[in-house]
Amino acid sequence: MASEGVKLGLIGLGTVGTGVVQLLTQNGDTIARKLGRPLALTRVASRSVHAKPHPPLENAQLSSDPWSVVHDPDIDLVVELIGGIEPARSLTLEALRRGKDVVTANKALLAQHGAEIFAAAEAHGAHIGFEASVAGGIPIIRTLREGLAGDRNRALFGIVNGTCNYILTTMSEHAEEFATVLARAQAQGLAEADPSFDIDGIDAAHKLTLLAMLAFGVRVSFESVYVEGIRHVSQTDILFAREFGYGIKLLAIAKEEDDTLEVRVHPTMIPRSSLLAGVGDAYNAIFVQGEALGSSLYFGRGAGSLPTATAVVADMIDTARQRGTIRGSGVPPLGMPWHELRAIRLRPIDEITSEYYLRFMALDRPGVLARIAGILGDHDISIASVIQRGRSEGDETVPLVLRTHAAKERNLKAALCLVDELPIVQGKSVSIRIEENLG
Ligand code: HSE
Repeated sequence: MASEGVKLGLIGLGTVGTGVVQLLTQNGDTIARKLGRPLALTRVASRSVHAKPHPPLENAQLSSDPWSVVHDPDIDLVVELIGGIEPARSLTLEALRRGKDVVTANKALLAQHGAEIFAAAEAHGAHIGFEASVAGGIPIIRTLREGLAGDRNRALFGIVNGTCNYILTTMSEHAEEFATVLARAQAQGLAEADPSFDIDGIDAAHKLTLLAMLAFGVRVSFESVYVEGIRHVSQTDILFAREFGYGIKLLAIAKEEDDTLEVRVHPTMIPRSSLLAGVGDAYNAIFVQGEALGSSLYFGRGAGSLPTATAVVADMIDTARQRGTIRGSGVPPLGMPWHELRAIRLRPIDEITSEYYLRFMALDRPGVLARIAGILGDHDISIASVIQRGRSEGDETVPLVLRTHAAKERNLKAALCLVDELPIVQGKSVSIRIEENLG
């Protein structure tokens, strides 16, 4: 039976790879019925393949050398689940050059080397599936590429990093500071030992690069995505946000306006009544605004062995189906050929317009609010509301919290530089962007 099937070569037997083997084992019969032939796991390469007990792989040849998969002429489909840039990039390119299809969960690779990899897939008439690279089990790639293909998207807002969402949800629900929650998440294996990719927003920016290309049919380079992580989010700001009716989420945002695109990842205050604000713990969600459809929301598990494996196996099935058609005639990975993607101007962060939450630690003296408001006014920044607490015994300063109307980021930065130099203000001001229109 295996010889009639599509021959798979799996590279990487970590969390997701193990889930893939489990799903292929459990659902193999159903998959074969859907496809008309089985998916046959023929080769598996993993650094630890000989060192640790592995899931049922009785029909596969095992190796610790990933090149043994790519060099095997019998392998139809290479599944790359090792992550990182090298050797994943070279393995993927070589597999495509040899006319093999590739399924990958590697968002860093596609976000940073997508031009080279998608071009290689096109040149060699090979298919590349990457559903698992963004938001784990949520079929958002296929949704943007196929389900929403007839619409023109205007904006996309994603909670696409489960680690950050878990930390921010826990900080908000248990009134704990960032460092405490992170340390516990690491001890429980919920956050990586080196969490910087997640908490500094880089993982979300990789995912946003891919989402923006798909949603808007444009070329986006990872380097042009503005990135700010969640290390500076404090309990104080979470509590004030709540008073204004907001929660804080790490959002990946892409918006097209006036033939320019904004692509940014940063902590964002959003109305507590919005659907995205209700996305808690490590869940992911992507909210899309289309001209014809209006708003739609896609929610689910963004990581984990079996949830992510569902996306990998769906791509295997899809890719295997496309092998039955004329090579290169299937659905292009980004919904259109690479040369059809528009080269759009990406708006630098200084040029965006947003509403802002601002917090200053100021002396509690007459004229302080007027002084700060004066500097903001001089920069065309209009105040929408203010909260000021009384001073407790021993406090030198009090938090002065403002919400602004829409203002230009460049003006805000200039104003905050001046405010931060005032002797009546202590430390650096805090600013967090607000997004109101989230359904
Ligand atoms: N580390 C990611 C997250 C999952 O926390 O969402 C893999 O992309």
